Amino acid sequence: MGIKYVCNECGKKYDPKTLVFKCTCGGLLNIKKFHFKFSKKDIMHNEWSLFRYIKTLPFDDNFNLWRDISMGEGLTPIVPLDKNYPNLLVKMDYMMPTSSFKDRGAVVLICKAKELGIKKVIQDSSGNAGTSIAAYANRSGIQCDIYVPENTSPKKIKQIASHGATVHVIKGNREDTAREALKAAERGDGFYASHVYNPFFYQGTKTYVYEIYEQLNGEMPEALVIPVGNGTLLLGSYYALKELLELNLITKMPKLIAVQANGCAPIYKAFKEGKDTVKQVTNIGTLAEGIAIADPKRGNQILKAIKYTKGKIITAPEDKIIETKEYLAQKGFYVEPTTAATFAGFLDYYKENDLKGKIVIPLCGCGLKSS
Ligand SMILES: Cc1ncc(COP(=O)(O)O)c(C=O)c1O
Ligand SMILES: [Zn+2]
Repeated sequence: MGIKYVCNECGKKYDPKTLVFKCTCGGLLNIKKFHFKFSKKDIMHNEWSLFRYIKTLPFDDNFNLWRDISMGEGLTPIVPLDKNYPNLLVKMDYMMPTSSFKDRGAVVLICKAKELGIKKVIQDSSGNAGTSIAAYANRSGIQCDIYVPENTSPKKIKQIASHGATVHVIKGNREDTAREALKAAERGDGFYASHVYNPFFYQGTKTYVYEIYEQLNGEMPEALVIPVGNGTLLLGSYYALKELLELNLITKMPKLIAVQANGCAPIYKAFKEGKDTVKQVTNIGTLAEGIAIADPKRGNQILKAIKYTKGKIITAPEDKIIETKEYLAQKGFYVEPTTAATFAGFLDYYKENDLKGKIVIPLCGCGLKSS
């Protein structure tokens, strides 16, 4: 297939085999547009994982390694939340092998790493992405080093270690952790399997939208509500929606409504101020550890995607996270605070706006993982 990376800033192209993870100009790498044919008949109907959409993924037709690596991730149910919100559907993305949506990106990235012959990967995360990468790396026989900040939920740290990864708990915040992992990647300690830098991760998160397309029988919702820290689910969804439009499988772009935590909302700030570039903010503290990203490296790309869909960015009120977690549990959904925050933000927005069309919102992380 000849997949290439292309720099988001200067357009320079790279071969993924070179193991480069950013451009010489400092820009982040995207996957250069590759062409594929896809319609409902190309869904592999007898495959019960996200690999049923393999035609949309950056692999050659004869690529088979995924069969040993996949754990049946994806195909998460879409169900109503509550009669009080008649047009609101939740997609249960915590029903995944490692209990978060990050398995979508991790399985595709690790399949690619295996194809490239990688022996060791490095990654940094607030917990969930690290767990996913650790699980799939170990399953594929790839050594794995995961960097997490010291405030990461102990259950997540234990889960990462259980999957055989070496866990580096970094004194300091999420940004200090990213710096340590980056240093290790620059030293050549391993392939940087970062969900922020490595664009193959976003190919995996595309499947969130391909599933919605299939499950709702081609009738896409009016809006997708998505939590945003580094934007892996948001950007993957955006790429998939653009592909569906280009394939003439949908005729209208759903709006992307991003949710950030009140205590750490750099993309919201830029959006509100009418800026095109996202500047680092200070994280003043939030229970929503999964979206507490003060300096999102793909911030400008995320902002552009939201604007392109005529979407919005809203924030989650910190003082409503716990009560929303309890409310969701009353409805049967046991989620982690980051997911409760997404709902807290959106339910306020829902009450203040006359939203008529169908809306889908993900349950990204399972409550059993948080302390
Ligand atoms: C439960 C949960 N929700 C949402 C997110 C946000 O994802 P992203 O940083 O890719 O925007 C994360 C990230 O770790 C998460 O763990
Ligand atoms: Zn460049």
